[in-house]
Amino acid sequence: MEFSVPNILKNKIDELILHYPEKRSVTLMALHAFQEYYGYISNEAIEWIAQKLSLMPITVLELVTFYPMFSQEPLGKFHFKICRTLSCALKGSKNIYTFLCNKLGLDPHLHGRQTTADGRFTVEYVECLASCNTAPVLFLNEDFYENVTEESVAELLSLCEQKEGENE
Ligand code: FES
Repeated sequence: MEFSVPNILKNKIDELILHYPEKRSVTLMALHAFQEYYGYISNEAIEWIAQKLSLMPITVLELVTFYPMFSQEPLGKFHFKICRTLSCALKGSKNIYTFLCNKLGLDPHLHGRQTTADGRFTVEYVECLASCNTAPVLFLNEDFYENVTEESVAELLSLCEQKEGENE
């Protein structure tokens, strides 16, 4: 089946292209737009963006694999990113990660991003989020949380459940 990009995305990319002397300058913004719309960047999206911006697909793929904010697989509706760099590690981010994985039925010993079977939650470690003085820290989707504890993470999970309930 042919990959079809909705007009809202096409128009956004066309508009961005008008603002730069070179189409390739739009690549990261296009990737953000696709990530936001689809929740991940598929191979078809990479090829579409490459063609649109007159680039080789590998050039676009390199950006997708380099930047951790992009994902090549669908993410959960609720995405936890837990910092594991030194300050957060010293303040117990591993316990937070393990606690969260256990609560969600994920394997705390697995490396890399994990998503629950129902597709609702994604959990992953990330590197320093530049708030070392308030370690341990995490992102839940676009919201940033500092000095997190197992209790505050349990509350966040309850909030997620509550939000889902409101949308049903
Ligand atoms: S080490 Fe976690 S924010 Fe810097």
